Formats: sequence, structure tokens, C-alpha cells
Amino acid sequence: MTIEALTAVAADAGDLTVWPASATPLPHGGLAVGGVSLAEAAQRFGTPVYVLDEGEVRGRCRSYRAAFPDAEVLYAAKAFLSRAMVRWVGEEGLGLDVCSAGELELAVTSGFPPERIVLHGNAKSPGDLASALRLGVGRIVIDSRCEIARIAAAVGPGGRQRVLVRVVPGVAAGGHEKIRTGTEGQKFGLSAADGSAQEAVARILDQPRLELAGLHCHIGSQITSVEPYRVALGRMVELMASVREAHDVALPELDLGGGHGIAYRPGEPALDLPALARELRTALADRCAAAGLPVPRLTVEPGRAIAGPAGVAVYRVLAVKRSGGKVFVAVDGGMSDNPRPALYGARYAPRLVGRHSAAGSRTATVVGRHCEAGDVLAVNAELPADVHPGDLLAVPVAGAYQSSMASGYNLVGRPPVVAVHEGAARILLRRETLEDFRHRDIGA
Ligand code: LLP
Repeated sequence: MTIEALTAVAADAGDLTVWPASATPLPHGGLAVGGVSLAEAAQRFGTPVYVLDEGEVRGRCRSYRAAFPDAEVLYAAKAFLSRAMVRWVGEEGLGLDVCSAGELELAVTSGFPPERIVLHGNAKSPGDLASALRLGVGRIVIDSRCEIARIAAAVGPGGRQRVLVRVVPGVAAGGHEKIRTGTEGQKFGLSAADGSAQEAVARILDQPRLELAGLHCHIGSQITSVEPYRVALGRMVELMASVREAHDVALPELDLGGGHGIAYRPGEPALDLPALARELRTALADRCAAAGLPVPRLTVEPGRAIAGPAGVAVYRVLAVKRSGGKVFVAVDGGMSDNPRPALYGARYAPRLVGRHSAAGSRTATVVGRHCEAGDVLAVNAELPADVHPGDLLAVPVAGAYQSSMASGYNLVGRPPVVAVHEGAARILLRRETLEDFRHRDIGA
């Protein structure tokens, strides 16, 4: 291509700041991710399709390892899990945070070392605990008092399981009320303010089958500033100091959970990872020195910040219409593959791919195909005025909590997830078909 043609392609590309680093404009309005044209991927795999950039996932894992060289970094599997994802994060030196026997079994049967896995959950089922103990999970995070005796009994005589206690540090943070987990009055953890956490610590220390490795907190999700983490860290160190005082035990681990926020649309704030790492390291050293405690090993559990920006959802436009002064652009997916707008009012920035449009832009509401008025994928989306059925819309930052939260609503079938890397595409999760629904429905 000539310089002029390249410049025209780049200008056509618009703002790619929230896209994977590999995103490259192609001629005629095309866009490649991981060296694969999104329009070609849509053609080959059908729509809707989730495209996941392996290089972006690996790059993000490496950024974490570089920012937190002395800490343990656990990828939070709930954001997105597949066998390939397990392999990528494992190869990049991360551990895993899982919250069900399903996530745990998938990871271990894919070859992930169980000792690098932490099991969470406010209501672990007998099956979850049985899997954890059978597979030899590294740590179990205790979330309520009744779990202590239950886990100890399941461990059996002669066994010993490492555990953490999940603490409510009393910090309000997170992108939406439904994903704030650091305050009193929500379902997770044991309160430090009312003494429940301290009581759980005492009970665990009395249990020869349990080894208390440390304390855990997860204050919320989609947090874009360092401050709430610093406050939580201070409260957790205070609690560690009081445990030392009461029991003469210096706990070796402090897990501060995940929640690291990312930008979904150009210009939105994201958590500054190097700043977080730097400030937590300094604060931890200072607080521990002041309390006369040895510095515990820090653990962080990012999910969204690793998988989110690596994913792109590609939909085909099925209908365009005007109603009540608004333009509705309806696509072939919706709340069954991305419930986030309906659940949290999440905002996205879709764009046209696969065709050049010379039309000016107009504001449209991108909606899904499901039978609810709340099935909206993007409000106030800026799209070319000539958007029409057959067009492809690509939504960046689709790698976390979309495929993993997809449902079977309206029996539409969950989209495939396709990995792209160095110009090659391969299916990680195949599309759910009508045949799958028929197989599951065994009542006559
Ligand atoms: N650790 C624990 C104990 C967690 O509960 C979570 C997320 C994470 C780590 C990872 O958080 P992340 O770094 O991904 O923010 N479905 C919601 C997010 C729910 C997060 C639940 N817990 C969403 O789509 O925004």
C-alpha cells in the first residue's frame, strides 16, 4: 500500500485505545486482531462470535508478573475459562482462583498444578469441597464459620489443608453496587468490625487439620483507583497484628483479591497497575514495620484486567429501525451472551467492521434479539448513519464476564470463542447448537 492509502486506512480506524494491542486497520474498513481479519472470522465461524487474542492475554499476564515480581498472581477463572486459557496463564507463571468444582476440575484436568489453585466461594457445596480435597488444591478460602468444622472433617485424620480467612475490611469500592464486596451487609466474608473474622481465626488455629496461611479480602470489581486497596491493606495488616497479639502467630500470606478496573470505552479510566503494585509494596512494608510484623507474601487475583481487553464480540446486524426518536440497531446476539449492560448498566463502544462507510456518524442504540426491552448492548453508540442489516458490529473489551456469564435464554445458543494468534484462528469453545438443547431436554 502507498503511504496515502495507509494513512487513509489509519484515519478510518478511529480510536483503538481500548482494543487489543494487535488491532490493525485493514483496507476497506477491515480490522484485524491477532493477525486475523474480524470480518473473515465472522464469515468462517458465524456470528455472534467471541474472538480472544492469545497474545494480549499472555502480554497482560506478563505485565502482572513484571509489576508484582514478588507477589503471587492468581488469574480469576470466573472472568473466562477454557482449557487454552488455563494453559496460557499457567505457562505465564500465574496461579488460578476458582470458585466451583467445575472450574477446578477443568483446570486440573487441563494439567494445571493444583497447588497453585485457590478455591473461593461463600457457599461451597459438598461436591466443591470433595473435589478440592481430592485434587489437592493449594488453599481454600473460608468464608463462614460453619465451613471450618466441615472442611476439617472432610480433610480426615492425618491430613492438613491450607486455608485463608476471607475478611470484610469495611471498604466500599467497585464499579456497581452489585459488585461491591468489601463492606458489611453483603454476603461475602467475615467481619473484622464485629469480631467474626477474629473468632474464625481462633477456631482455625485450634484445628490441627487446618493450617492458617493468611487472610484474604476482595473489596469489589472494576475499581479504577489505588486508594481503596491501600485502605483495605491497612485494615488487613491491623488484623494480622491483632492475630499476632492474640495468638503469637505471624501469618505468612495476605491476599488482596482482584477487582482491577479497565476502560471499556476510549477515554475511560483504568487502574494503573504499576502504581498499584508500587504503592501496595510500599504500604505493606511500612505498615508491617510499624506493627512489628514480618512482611507477608502478597497475592492478587485479577480476572477482568487479564481477559477483558483481549476479547472482541462480533455480531451481525439483523434489523435497523427508528422508534420514539431513536435509531435501534438490532444484532444477532444480546443479553444471553452479554448480560453486563442489563445487570450493571455497563457501557460499550461498538464499531462497524468489514466495510468502509463514507456516511457521517449518528447515535444509535444497539440492541439484542431477546424478548425483553432491557436487552440493550450499547446505548448512545456512535455508528455510521448508513448502518444496515448484514453489517458487522465489533464490540471490544468483551473477554471477561461475557462468555462466562452467557445463558441459554430463548434457546439461542451460546456463541463460540475463537482464539486468534499470529494470523491463525482456532475454536476454543464451539457454538452451542439446537442439538445441544435437544440432548439436554430428556423429559417427554
Ligand atoms: N477474587 C475474588 C474473590 C472475586 O470474587 C473476584 C470477582 C475476583 C478475584 C476477580 O475480580 P476482577 O479482577 O475480575 O474484577 N460479573 C461482574 C464481575 C463480578 C466479579 C466477581 N468476583 C462483571 O461483569 O462486572
